[in-house]
Amino acid sequence: MGDLLLGQVLRFDGDPFADGEGVARHESHGAVLVQNGRIADAGPADRLRTAHPQARITDYGRALISAGFVDAHVHYPQTAMIASWGKRLIDWLNLYTFPEEMRFGDPAHAADIANRHLDLTLAHGTTSVCTYATIHPASVDAYFTAAKARGQRVWAGKTCMDRNAPEGLRDTPQSAYDDSRALLQKWHGVDRLSYVITPRFSPTSTPEQLAALGALWREHPDCLMQTHLSEQTDEIAWVQALFPQSRDYLDTYEAQGLLREGAVYGHAIHLTARERARLIEAGASLVHCPTSNTFIGSGLFDMGLARSLRVGLATDTGGGSSFSMLRTMAAAYEVAQLNGTALHPAQLWWLATQGSARALHAEDRIGNIAPGMEADLVVIDLASTPAIEQATRRAENIWQALFPTIMMGDDRAIRSVWVAGRER
Ligand code: GUN
Ligand code: ZN
Repeated sequence: MGDLLLGQVLRFDGDPFADGEGVARHESHGAVLVQNGRIADAGPADRLRTAHPQARITDYGRALISAGFVDAHVHYPQTAMIASWGKRLIDWLNLYTFPEEMRFGDPAHAADIANRHLDLTLAHGTTSVCTYATIHPASVDAYFTAAKARGQRVWAGKTCMDRNAPEGLRDTPQSAYDDSRALLQKWHGVDRLSYVITPRFSPTSTPEQLAALGALWREHPDCLMQTHLSEQTDEIAWVQALFPQSRDYLDTYEAQGLLREGAVYGHAIHLTARERARLIEAGASLVHCPTSNTFIGSGLFDMGLARSLRVGLATDTGGGSSFSMLRTMAAAYEVAQLNGTALHPAQLWWLATQGSARALHAEDRIGNIAPGMEADLVVIDLASTPAIEQATRRAENIWQALFPTIMMGDDRAIRSVWVAGRER
């Protein structure tokens, strides 16, 4: 029994940054068998049809079946303020972000935006998300409640700040520890939900708060810890002034027990040689947020780091300017071009699926099509607009057929989304 999905199928046998694009497996007439919320088999359509004659068939024709997108760094509370004009990071936070996050003291508002964010991201083919909430514990409850109802694998954490934020958006070292711990105990490991310990970034946490969250992480070592690192040069100068005893930005985390495997740092653009070496040595994850880094004017992430570290891809909404991981892949391509490298479509697709899953230490569960993996899938129309259709007409291989959708595609390219083995 089960569902047999027919179409072109794209999956990966390895990491195209380490081993080249040859690790991608493309089946022009392929099939994916879904049973009990998991992928049971994948391969040539002929073989699977013969082997599973009882399965219910959904034929997607020439559309491409892939693992659903994994967005490794977002701020769901910033959904409604996406595309706010004219500011760089610190002014953008003060003018737009903090007033917006203040509204999440109202649980009804948090529930509304949590549902809106999950609806929007699913419509863009994103099946898993790792999000910051706000300072309010109810904002974490709202997101987990909405994701649980949809059966999605998501990560979320209460954003902790005890300085340099307005009254009403500040906690304390003790309340950050207590609230984070209570939320972790309530949600972590429930269904497909994972709690992430979430200090916003060093400018908005005292060393005492970072230390309290470092202690919490030691007590719950299987959790992830997410924060921001070296996004803008002004921010780095501010961190130097706030932490005169620290060797560099990373050291402000390292000194408080917030650097090891399972640490997930967003942005990480302007790194020193010591920071790079320590991040690699510690086995940390970095998340590339290319639409945000250009929109807020932060800088160009060095994708060369993907050869030595777990690197994921993310929209970083609302600093990022799109909910689409296709648009985000396009921005990653453009940023790498400005750094002198043309990323291969296989690398871009891998980053948005398996790379992000790996950055979140979930690559054995999501982000790829393989037996035993959770059946989170996206079905992509490779001719979703006239402009894309005409650009693919002479395509001679899957990469030529896919690249125009990477560069010009949006939610119109999303033909279908499957979450835990059920079509949405
Ligand atoms: N650094 C600290 N907070 C934020 C945020 O909300 N968005 C971005 N892009 N950077 C941050
Ligand atoms: Zn962020």
